[in-house]
Amino acid sequence: MQIIQTEIITKVMITEIVNNKLGTNYFCKEKNIEFFLRKARNVDAKIIFELSNEDVVRDNSINTNKIIWDDHLNWLSARLESKNCFYLLAFTKEDDFIGQIRYDIDNDTASISISISKDFRGKGFSTVLLTSSVELMFNQYSKVNFVLAKIHQKNIASTKTFTKAGYIHSHQEVINGNEFDVLELTRKDENPN
Ligand SMILES: CC(C)(COP(=O)(O)OP(=O)(O)OC[C@H]1O[C@@H](n2cnc3c(N)ncnc32)[C@H](O)[C@@H]1OP(=O)(O)O)[C@@H](O)C(=O)NCCC(=O)NCCS
Repeated sequence: MQIIQTEIITKVMITEIVNNKLGTNYFCKEKNIEFFLRKARNVDAKIIFELSNEDVVRDNSINTNKIIWDDHLNWLSARLESKNCFYLLAFTKEDDFIGQIRYDIDNDTASISISISKDFRGKGFSTVLLTSSVELMFNQYSKVNFVLAKIHQKNIASTKTFTKAGYIHSHQEVINGNEFDVLELTRKDENPN
């Protein structure tokens, strides 16, 4: 899959993304998908809340409880303030909300979470979002070498999408009584010699 960045990412630009000023445009030639990735902000609380609280998103999460608005605001502020959270949102050119990707960093490992808005599911967005966002995350966090995705065993779409993005099965975990497959992506060594 060929993803063309319509703006070249420089270190300056990545710094600006972190400061919530800029994002990056992407175009995936193979799927004819165009999208804009930028850091999440507190003003995005409503769209994030609505997506995260959809039944299908809750059903496929580790914590399946419905989210309460005030808890969400506190949770989001904490995530956005944390240096160990890399939280991106994707939009169309028309500014429609495509979805969210979050990396929670713990030493050399990031845990990933992704959800796509209802109108954009089934169009192949998730694989290109995984591929493009992980590159930004690896650039931003030089100590991170592994990304883990915990996927509910019934979540076939998610398993397919992570596999297409290069993740491989690591092990299984039972969390809150549900079985999850843990898929892992390892940073590619740019200088193998
Ligand atoms: C899971 C999710 C991220 C997938 O994103 P997406 O962009 O809609 O992915 P796609 O629709 O392109 O589906 C990926 C693949 O799964 C297949 N698929 C989708 N639903 C399926 C189903 N119910 N059974 C079997 N295969 C299915 C698609 O055909 C596609 O395969 P293909 O590329 O070989 O044709 C998205 O559906 C979502 O946000 N779901 C709710 C939240 C969630 O589950 N997040 C992941 C938690 S780990």
